[in-house]
Amino acid sequence: MNDSAPVLAIENIHTFIGQFHILEGASVAVQQGGITVLLGRNGAGKTTTLKSVMGITPPSQGSIHFRGEPLAGKPSNVIAQMGIGYVPEHRAIFRELTVKENLQIAERKRGDLARRGDLIFDLFPDLKRLYGLPGGNLSGGQQQMLAMARALVPENHLLLIDEPSEGLAPVIIEQLMRAITRLTDHASVLLVEQNFRVASRLANDYVIVDEGQSVASGLIANLVNDDALIQRYLGVA
Ligand SMILES: Nc1ncnc2c1ncn2[C@@H]1O[C@H](COP(=O)(O)OP(=O)(O)O)[C@@H](O)[C@H]1O
Ligand SMILES: [Mg+2]
Repeated sequence: MNDSAPVLAIENIHTFIGQFHILEGASVAVQQGGITVLLGRNGAGKTTTLKSVMGITPPSQGSIHFRGEPLAGKPSNVIAQMGIGYVPEHRAIFRELTVKENLQIAERKRGDLARRGDLIFDLFPDLKRLYGLPGGNLSGGQQQMLAMARALVPENHLLLIDEPSEGLAPVIIEQLMRAITRLTDHASVLLVEQNFRVASRLANDYVIVDEGQSVASGLIANLVNDDALIQRYLGVA
C-alpha cells in the first residue's frame, strides 16, 4: 500500500497565525484507505496542521498535495470541494437544527444525502432514530457521530477528524472507533487523537508533532513498543 502515492502529502509546512510562527516544518502523509494519527502534547500544532490543509490557516512555506494536486493558494471552500471533509474539535453541529437538517445543510451537491444516507445510517444507526430531534438534544457521543456523518454527506476522499473521543465515555468511544475503522472503506483519515490507546488501535501510521515540527513518524505498530519516544513526546507510559 505504501508504494502508491499518498492521498495527502504535507511537506515541511510553516504556518503563521498573526505574527506567531506556529508550524515550523510539519510533514505528514496519509495513504489511500489508511488512517494516520497526529500525536503530540497540547499546543503542539495538531489542530493547526488540519487547519493548514483546509486553508483556514494556509501555510506560508512548504507544500500540501491532495491526490497529487497542490492546495497552495486555494480557498477553503475549493479545498473542501476537492473532496476533503473536516470534523473540527468540539463537534460544531447546529444545536437548533434537527439531525436531518444538520445533514441536509452538509450537502455539496443536490441529492448528496439521498445518495449517502444508507452508508451514513449503516455506520451510525443511532442517527436514524434521532433524525427528527434537535442536535442540542443529543448526547456528546451522538453529537460526535452527527459531526462525522456530516462530513460523509458529500463524497469525500479524505476526512480530517480532530479529537473525536474527547470527553466521551469508554463505551461510546468503542462505538466511534468501530465507525472510524469502517469508514476507511470510503475515505482515508487524518486523525488527531490524544487518547494513545485509541490512537494505537485505530491508526496504521503516526506522526508526532512537537513545538510545530514533526519529530517522529512511522508505523504505529513500531511506536507502541518505543517507550522512550512515547515518554519523551507524549508523556504517557
Ligand atoms: N488563534 C491563535 N492565535 C495565537 N496562537 C494560536 C492560535 N491558535 C493556536 N495558537 C497556538 O498555536 C499552538 C498550536 O495550537 P494547536 O494547533 O491548537 O495545538 P494542538 O491542537 O496540538 O493542541 C499553541 O501554542 C496555540 O497556543
Ligand atoms: Mg487541538
